[in-house]
Amino acid sequence: ILLGSVSAFLAGAAWPVFAVVLIKLLLLLSDPSQEADDDVDVYCIAIVVLSACQALANWGQIALLGLSGEELTYKLRSRSFRKMLRFEMAYFDEPAHSVGALGVRLASESTKVRGLTGDAAGTLLMTLGAVGVGVVLGLVACWRVALSVLALMPAVALNGYLEVVVMSGTDAKSQASFARAGQVASEAVDNIRAVTTLGAQRFFLNKYNDELTGPIARGRRGAMWMGAGFGFTEASMYLSFALAFWYGARLTVRGECSFEDTLWASQAIFFGMIMIGQAAATAPDLSGSLVAATNIFRLLDRPSAIDPLAQSGDRPSPVHGAVACTDVGFVYPTRPDVRVLRGLSAAVAAGKSLALVGESGCGKSTIVALLLRFYDVADGSVALDALDVRAWDVAHLRSHL
Ligand SMILES: Nc1ncnc2c1ncn2[C@@H]1O[C@H](COP(=O)(O)OP(=O)(O)O)[C@@H](O)[C@H]1O
Ligand SMILES: [Mg+2]
Repeated sequence: ILLGSVSAFLAGAAWPVFAVVLIKLLLLLSDPSQEADDDVDVYCIAIVVLSACQALANWGQIALLGLSGEELTYKLRSRSFRKMLRFEMAYFDEPAHSVGALGVRLASESTKVRGLTGDAAGTLLMTLGAVGVGVVLGLVACWRVALSVLALMPAVALNGYLEVVVMSGTDAKSQASFARAGQVASEAVDNIRAVTTLGAQRFFLNKYNDELTGPIARGRRGAMWMGAGFGFTEASMYLSFALAFWYGARLTVRGECSFEDTLWASQAIFFGMIMIGQAAATAPDLSGSLVAATNIFRLLDRPSAIDPLAQSGDRPSPVHGAVACTDVGFVYPTRPDVRVLRGLSAAVAAGKSLALVGESGCGKSTIVALLLRFYDVADGSVALDALDVRAWDVAHLRSHL
C-alpha cells in the first residue's frame, strides 16, 4: 500500500513537472534569435526521462494498489464470514440477518471497500501529487497568479466533500434495501415448492420490487446532483484558467511578474486541476465504499454473546451426562412478548432417558436448544454434570451432546 501510494503520488507529481519543461521548450522555440538547439535537446531528453519515470510510477500505482486491493477484499470477506459463523443463534433470528441479506452483504461489501484502496485511492493520491507539487511550483514562480488559479478551489473542495457526505447517506439506505431484497429473494427460492403451490409468485415479485423503488429514486436524484457537481467542478477549471490569465496579464504588463513565471504559475497548477476533475468522477464510488467499510467494521467489532471459538470456559473431563434444569424461564430475543418457558425444572441422571411430550410449539426443542447453548436462559439455569452450561467452553460442551 505504501509503495503503491508513493507511486501514485509521483505519477501525479510528474504532470506539473512536465508542464514546466513544456513551457521552457515553447519559450525556446518562440524565440528564433537564440541559439537554442542544444537546450531543446536537453529538455527533450528530460521529457524522455520523465516518461520512463511516469511509466514506472503508473505501474506501481495500478499494480501495487491493485494487489493490496485484492488481498484486502479477500481478508475482509473471509473475516466477515468467520465472524458470522461465531455469532449466537439469536443474531440469525433477526430478519435483517437472514440468509439472503447476509449473502448479499458478503458478496457486495468487501468488493465495494476495494474502491477505497484500489483505483479510486490511486486516482486521489495521483491528484494530490499533481496538485501538491503544482501548487508548490506555482507559488515559487509567482504566488499571486498561483493564488488566483486556486481562488475557486475551496468551492470545488466543498462541492466534492458534500457529494461524498450526501451520497454516503443515500448509499447506506440503498445497501440496506438491497440486503432486504436479497432476503425476499432467498425466502422465495428456499421455499419455491410452497410459493409454486400457493401461486404466490406475484406476491414475492411485488415485495422484491417494493424494496428496489427506494434505491431507484435515490439513484435518480443522486445522478442529477452528481452530474451538476461534476459540471461545476469542470467549469471551475476553465474559470480558474480565465482568471489566472486575466490577472497574470496585468501583472506582466506592470512588470510585477515575468511572462515565463506567469505561465509557470498557471500551467503547473492547471495540470493538477485537470486531475481534480477525474478524481471528482470517482466520488460516487467513494461514498459507497465508505458505507460498506462502516458496515464491515461494525460486523467485525460486534462481540458474539455465545462464541464457539472463544476457548474461554471450563472443559470438564470425563463428561458423565447428568442434565438438570432449575426454574428455567425463557423468551426468544426476537419475540420478547411470548414467554416460552416459565419455571421449568427437570433432572436426568447420567445414562438415563427422559421423554419430553407435549403439543407442537410447547417448548420441547427450546429446552434442547438451551442445553446446546443456542440461546441462554432468561431465569434459572441449565446444568450439565452440575456445572452451569454457561460456564462450559462452548465447543467442548457441544462436542459432548
Ligand atoms: N427462533 C425462534 N424465534 C422465535 N420464536 C421461536 C423460535 N423457535 C421457536 N419459537 C417459538 O417458541 C415456541 C416453542 O417452540 P419449540 O420449542 O420449537 O416447540 P416444540 O419443539 O415443542 O414444537 C413456539 O411458540 C415457537 O413458535
Ligand atoms: Mg420441536
